[in-house]
Amino acid sequence: MIRIGNVVIPGRISLSPMAGISDSPTRRICRKFGAAFSFTEFVNTDELVHRAPKAMKLFHYEPDERPITFQIFGNRLENIAQAAEIIQELKPDIIDLNMGCSTRKVSLRGAGAGLLRRPTYAGKIIEAIKKRVSVPVTAKIRIGWDSQSKNYLEVAHILEESGAQAITVHGRTKEMAYTGLADWEAIGEVKAKAKIPIFGNGDISSFQEANQKLRTYALDGVLIGRNAIGNPWIFSPILKRELSWEEIREVLLQHALWMTEEFGEEFGLVLFRKHLVKYLSGLEFDPRWKSELLEIREWNRFEDLIFSDKEKTQAVLV
Ligand SMILES: Cc1cc2nc3c(=O)[nH]c(=O)nc-3n(C[C@H](O)[C@H](O)[C@H](O)COP(=O)(O)O)c2cc1C
Repeated sequence: MIRIGNVVIPGRISLSPMAGISDSPTRRICRKFGAAFSFTEFVNTDELVHRAPKAMKLFHYEPDERPITFQIFGNRLENIAQAAEIIQELKPDIIDLNMGCSTRKVSLRGAGAGLLRRPTYAGKIIEAIKKRVSVPVTAKIRIGWDSQSKNYLEVAHILEESGAQAITVHGRTKEMAYTGLADWEAIGEVKAKAKIPIFGNGDISSFQEANQKLRTYALDGVLIGRNAIGNPWIFSPILKRELSWEEIREVLLQHALWMTEEFGEEFGLVLFRKHLVKYLSGLEFDPRWKSELLEIREWNRFEDLIFSDKEKTQAVLV
């Protein structure tokens, strides 16, 4: 258990925000298997200030997701603060500022990881958000813009002084994007200097490794991103490779059903494909059965096929 401001987080391992992945159904599946709280994907504050329905919808959540953190991004202090005030109506438990997105479209205009180049301005943004909302405000950073400018200690210090109530550190620079390895020593340095809760993030591949990182770097929490896709069991001691196909199937069906409820039958199943591929990875199937499954757009056919022909659904652990 950790506290972020007055919000109690019931655990230390959780799902990292991922655009196009960490929607409400996915967050709920992860929570079911032990993820400590919910973290939405980042949403553009320039759209939120106009209450653009598409942007607002990204903050849809179910009551069983609490505590829930809403993540926002932008490069203009006034828009970010105003957006934070607007989304407070949707009753998030925490609001997080994205300072880690490395895509050119976001970072080159000074949003996401672009804010790492302007730590004082980022601090002013945190102060401005705090003036407009009553929930705790946090930030998610990378360790710097590039290998020549690893300013994570300075950034973390400024954010803390500005009132950030927790910081997640993804141990890569913006320049690294998703290449190379996360620098956990740097994450540990941030933790050693900070007075607020620090979450570490980057490359965790198992529940055991998550616990090891928590202990080694005395962290308050860790977030798992890519390796949680199609593997919500990563938030618990259950090992996916020890599960039967029937057990995996039950969970993926629940996940898929929630996707259709959230996004509609057809779009929900289309969006589910990127999860499905990961649920099925590590298992061996008839490739024709698998490709047919990945094409389906109707729930009844999806369910039928998944339960169809025992031979075709004989999963073998590879
Ligand atoms: C597809 C994808 C989308 C992402 N979207 C976000 C996002 O919206 N907000 C954010 O803070 N980080 C985002 N990230 C970064 C992850 O939260 C995380 O920091 C990164 O993937 C490293 O953790 P991992 O090695 O456990 O995946 C995204 C990552 C991926 C792969």
